[in-house]
Amino acid sequence: MLSDVAGLLACPTCGSAFELREFQPPASALRCASGHSFDIARQGYVNLLPGGAKPGTADTAEMVEARHAFLSAGHFAPLARLIGDLAVSAAPAAGCVLDAGAGTGYYLRAVLDRRPAPDSAGLAMDISARALRRAARAHPRIGAVVWDLWQPFPVRSETVSLILVLKRDGALVVVTPAQGHLAELMQSVGLLMVDERKQDRLAATLGSHFTEGHRAEHEISLSLSHADAAALAAMGPAASHVPPEELHRRVAALPEPVTVTAAFRVGIYQPTLMSG
Ligand SMILES: C[S@@+](CC[C@H](N)C(=O)[O-])C[C@H]1O[C@@H](n2cnc3c(N)ncnc32)[C@H](O)[C@@H]1O
Ligand SMILES: [Zn+2]
Repeated sequence: MLSDVAGLLACPTCGSAFELREFQPPASALRCASGHSFDIARQGYVNLLPGGAKPGTADTAEMVEARHAFLSAGHFAPLARLIGDLAVSAAPAAGCVLDAGAGTGYYLRAVLDRRPAPDSAGLAMDISARALRRAARAHPRIGAVVWDLWQPFPVRSETVSLILVLKRDGALVVVTPAQGHLAELMQSVGLLMVDERKQDRLAATLGSHFTEGHRAEHEISLSLSHADAAALAAMGPAASHVPPEELHRRVAALPEPVTVTAAFRVGIYQPTLMSG
């Protein structure tokens, strides 16, 4: 619930903490000491973006529902288990786990399931309010916050143990699609391929602040119904250039079940620049 993470958040307008004395769920707003107020949606998430901010790259309602349907079918459960295992070994068992771009909260839930401590909360951040409707319900200890990850995070210092490294013993877990990810589906349905330079760009972005400590390649061979394959194609931006009816027509022409390889690269990074 939002109350699990409200104490970690900072007002994006003035940086002060939120008034927790008045924050009794189900409260209708988070209020800071200077009086800035942010409405809490009926579905349990709070939007901390300034009014009028554009959702831009947010996943659409269709993408979110396709992602929810696909993940709920369990196809990526092995990846969720791997991330849960890595999270246990990478960071202290208590404290907050921040999922930056949490989507429906599927992986954050898996991490929290491996961190039973009552004070291990999950902060799901995403710019898609629609995704956070799902994330807010994905686990009792998840609090969901609409935010643009390109802006400084509205989080108080020394509060996050895993993913966003604000504690010295924290860690950052990054999962990226690897070469060959969904290749069969890409070819037969005409989706955009994984950017070959994604890994180089990631290394360049993180390199000055983080050192990669552990890396794992992970492949899952999926055997999918047409409905699952259509949901998998529709849950990412790769299909944004294919109209839904055309996508379903192309999927219907595939064998059923259709075999698709999901390929991921998981990197665990530790901070290099933090001292003292
Ligand atoms: C590929 S999805 C991954 C979702 C989730 N991590 C998962 O694997 O199921 C990327 C997510 O990033 C979100 N996103 C895109 N641009 C963003 C931004 N600037 N700030 C915050 N979230 C963003 C999208 O709304 C989407 O939910
Ligand atoms: Zn404020």
